[in-house]
Amino acid sequence: MTGRVAGKVALITGAGSEGGLGEAMARRLAEEGATVWLTDIDKDGVEARAAAIGGTARGLHHDVTSEAAWDEVLGQTGPIDILVNNAGIAVLRPIENLPPADYARQMEVNMTSGYLGMRAGVANMRAHGRGGSIINISSVAGLIGIPGVTAYAASKAGLRLFGKALAMETAKQKIRVNSVHPGMIMTGMQKVALQDSPEQYEILTAGIPMGYMGEPIEIANMVLFLASDEARYITGAEMVVDGGLTAQ
Ligand SMILES: NC(=O)c1ccc[n+]([C@@H]2O[C@H](COP(=O)([O-])OP(=O)(O)OC[C@H]3O[C@@H](n4cnc5c(N)ncnc54)[C@H](O)[C@@H]3O)[C@@H](O)[C@H]2O)c1
Repeated sequence: MTGRVAGKVALITGAGSEGGLGEAMARRLAEEGATVWLTDIDKDGVEARAAAIGGTARGLHHDVTSEAAWDEVLGQTGPIDILVNNAGIAVLRPIENLPPADYARQMEVNMTSGYLGMRAGVANMRAHGRGGSIINISSVAGLIGIPGVTAYAASKAGLRLFGKALAMETAKQKIRVNSVHPGMIMTGMQKVALQDSPEQYEILTAGIPMGYMGEPIEIANMVLFLASDEARYITGAEMVVDGGLTAQ
């Protein structure tokens, strides 16, 4: 098999939603020769996404907030070269509507899962000794202040800095840890929302210098680059893919 990540084994979490970022990443990595393991809490969804990609792609049930589930999943995949911590939820509420339970769930799914995944992923990569690439899917909300997203922002900023500090611990073993910060990307969930109120598109894209929402492939291409040996000297970095949103 030839390709930019030929011979590598990748695990992508949160890859069960149709038209989501995880599916696009898995497809792109598979196209470039990786063996891909898609995981998600939605078992049927992730199995369907893996079947649609075909080849050696496999889907596994995986709750990223469970330490035991990480052990089980990595037990099935064996040694991995690429880990993409992509699973996430968005609790988008102003602070007066943010009870402790919702805050805690936001941090558990987006941030604690990243800790569990990075800990397990580093142990896996150190054991096989070939190094690896860990990619944390953060957000522009993990870089700048956006109203109404406090808990989401904290979870994504936490993921960003956890990874940056970890990159310093693992650099000598060639385990690279980077974050990707998508801006507004047209995934399945947003498509459904916009079908009901297309005028929202104008409102949502008004602040984007390039004037439109990105497609999942923009994020998938960045993940592919970071996963490949082309990015071998890049670690602890924050890769922004946002049509210029945070450059203003
Ligand atoms: N779409 C965007 O505009 C955008 C922008 C910035 C960041 N992001 C981030 O990118 C990632 C993917 O976003 P998306 O738009 O594809 O969303 P999505 O909702 O389509 O996909 C998220 C996936 O995570 C899964 N998931 C949720 N909780 C889980 C758990 N406990 N264990 C395992 N899987 C779980 C869901 O089932 C879903 O399949 C998320 O982390 C999101 O915060 C997205």
